Amino acid sequence: MSYLLRIDASDSGDASVSRQVADSFTAAWGGDVVRRDLALTPVGHLDAAGITARTTPADEHTPEQKAAALLQDELVEEFLGAEAYLFAVPLYNYSMPSVFKAWLDQIMIVGRTIGVAGGARSAGRPAVVVSARGGGYGPGAPQHGKDFLVPALRTVLGDPNLLALDVRSLTPELTYARTMDALRHLLPQHRASLEEAHAQARRQAAEITGRSGLPRSG
Ligand SMILES: Cc1cc2nc3c(=O)[nH]c(=O)nc-3n(C[C@H](O)[C@H](O)[C@H](O)COP(=O)(O)O)c2cc1C
Repeated sequence: MSYLLRIDASDSGDASVSRQVADSFTAAWGGDVVRRDLALTPVGHLDAAGITARTTPADEHTPEQKAAALLQDELVEEFLGAEAYLFAVPLYNYSMPSVFKAWLDQIMIVGRTIGVAGGARSAGRPAVVVSARGGGYGPGAPQHGKDFLVPALRTVLGDPNLLALDVRSLTPELTYARTMDALRHLLPQHRASLEEAHAQARRQAAEITGRSGLPRSG
């Protein structure tokens, strides 16, 4: 079975803008979806047992390494089994939510997902990052250049020597205009950015689903 792997990382539940835009994508997706909600069910941080399990023969694993290897196997299998990816990852402190970073650390494994002879198995698969943010980060904005999430994810997910995914990003911004008086005058820009992100999400889901070889329902 091939599927879209959707990973959510916002702590804001149904109120999350990243989740809402990802919902638009998912609704327009024509195939199966497997979901992992890291806010509801975080995966543990990579620890010493998890790191050493990677280079220790399985029959020599301690109980801690066994448990760590089991988790990594589950996450890697789920990752590699997908045909496409949807990452709903809001901007927290100029970077990614720690639950998402913990998940990445668990699946970036030399010889399995990255640094594989002949190239990553995930190479060329489409990936959409939806990252809502409170401020504005476009050209001319005071915060321009301070988004350290999208560039980091483009590297980790998209670099040909890493996961080599075909990464696109949607960044509905200025969500603070809804709640902060000082930014209220930016509501029209926020609404336009949000509308554009939903439209792009629908377009990209239809375009990716329409590629030959990707899953279709019915
Ligand atoms: C812990 C935390 C840190 C945040 N840091 C930033 C930030 O550095 N820059 C920013 O523009 N907005 C920041 N925000 C605001 C969020 O990016 C904004 O609320 C966004 O809508 C969250 O995405 P969501 O609606 O999908 O949950 C932060 C919010 C939280 C909860």
